[in-house]
Amino acid sequence: MSDNPYLPFPARIQQIITETEDKNLKTFKVVFLNQADQERFTFIPGQFCEISVAGKGEIPLGIASSPTERGYLLFTVNKAGVVTRCLHIMKEGDIVGVRGPLGNWYPWERMEGKHVVIIGGGFAFTTLRAGIVYMLHPGNRDRFKDITVVYGVRSPGLLLYRQELAEWERRDDIDVHITVDATDDPDWPYNVGFVPTITEKNITTSENSYALVCGPPIMIKFTQPVLEKVGFKPDQIIMSLEMRMKCGIGICGRCNIGDKYVCKDGPVFSLAQLNELPKEY
Ligand SMILES: Cc1cc2nc3c(=O)[nH]c(=O)nc-3n(C[C@H](O)[C@H](O)[C@H](O)COP(=O)(O)OP(=O)(O)OC[C@H]3O[C@@H](n4cnc5c(N)ncnc54)[C@H](O)[C@@H]3O)c2cc1C
Ligand code: FES
Repeated sequence: MSDNPYLPFPARIQQIITETEDKNLKTFKVVFLNQADQERFTFIPGQFCEISVAGKGEIPLGIASSPTERGYLLFTVNKAGVVTRCLHIMKEGDIVGVRGPLGNWYPWERMEGKHVVIIGGGFAFTTLRAGIVYMLHPGNRDRFKDITVVYGVRSPGLLLYRQELAEWERRDDIDVHITVDATDDPDWPYNVGFVPTITEKNITTSENSYALVCGPPIMIKFTQPVLEKVGFKPDQIIMSLEMRMKCGIGICGRCNIGDKYVCKDGPVFSLAQLNELPKEY
């Protein structure tokens, strides 16, 4: 973080990857213009940044890369409104502002020595991707026991990070279950079915486990009872919230739920913590 928490670091878009067939999701690889900013920017998977586009505004985006991927940051952006549309028409070489890292992170220390279940739906998979890359890094893999991933999207063309998913599929130190709601492709190699169904088939115990769950509210609503059925307690279920935000540092009051600021106390909360809050999220 810069000394002035409102001051973004200038960064260049080095590469743009169009992730989905509908072209609504693109991943931006950005590098800081100043080496000193690069060195100062240390983060932990689960955190986010405020990304600014000159003359358009600033938006919160989860960091999709892992700190083990050095020298750049990744952000995967869904085309939604003013700023994200603008990002989508930017070119490699263009400049954005990066303010952060902001917020808290997934509870990596608490998860050490545990099985980790990652459940993601749609484009909320971004910081989960960061977490998977982080855990699979040779320097970290021994810190965690089994890693199981359930990742679902509506149709095959909407999958993010296809090449990496295929690589993870081939590894024997991670168990990956990719699924789509529906497909008419007879050669589709993975599952067909909703995330809660695929979770129910593959996650049969909560013993010594944590579950990180990110996705659309409907997916979370039906996945939570599946996890609870196999014994996951509210403090073993971890979620990341996406509220509307402005300052990102707990000052403007835009993102609060009860007495918690999602930008500062979150965005990562356990279900036990969320159960204590008013149901405004
Ligand atoms: C912690 C955090 C992490 C996020 N990570 C990502 C990410 O990795 N990738 C990504 O694509 N998006 C992410 N988002 C959502 C992203 O910030 C919004 O899509 C973005 O702010 C929309 O800005 P806009 O100017 O393009 O849209 P606007 O013109 O402001 O609005 C367009 C539409 O988007 C809706 N919208 C605006 N802000 C939000 C918001 N914060 N959450 C949900 N809907 C919103 C509006 O209701 C409207 O329907 C994240 C949000 C948070 C809080
Ligand atoms: S965004 Fe300003 S307090 Fe959270």
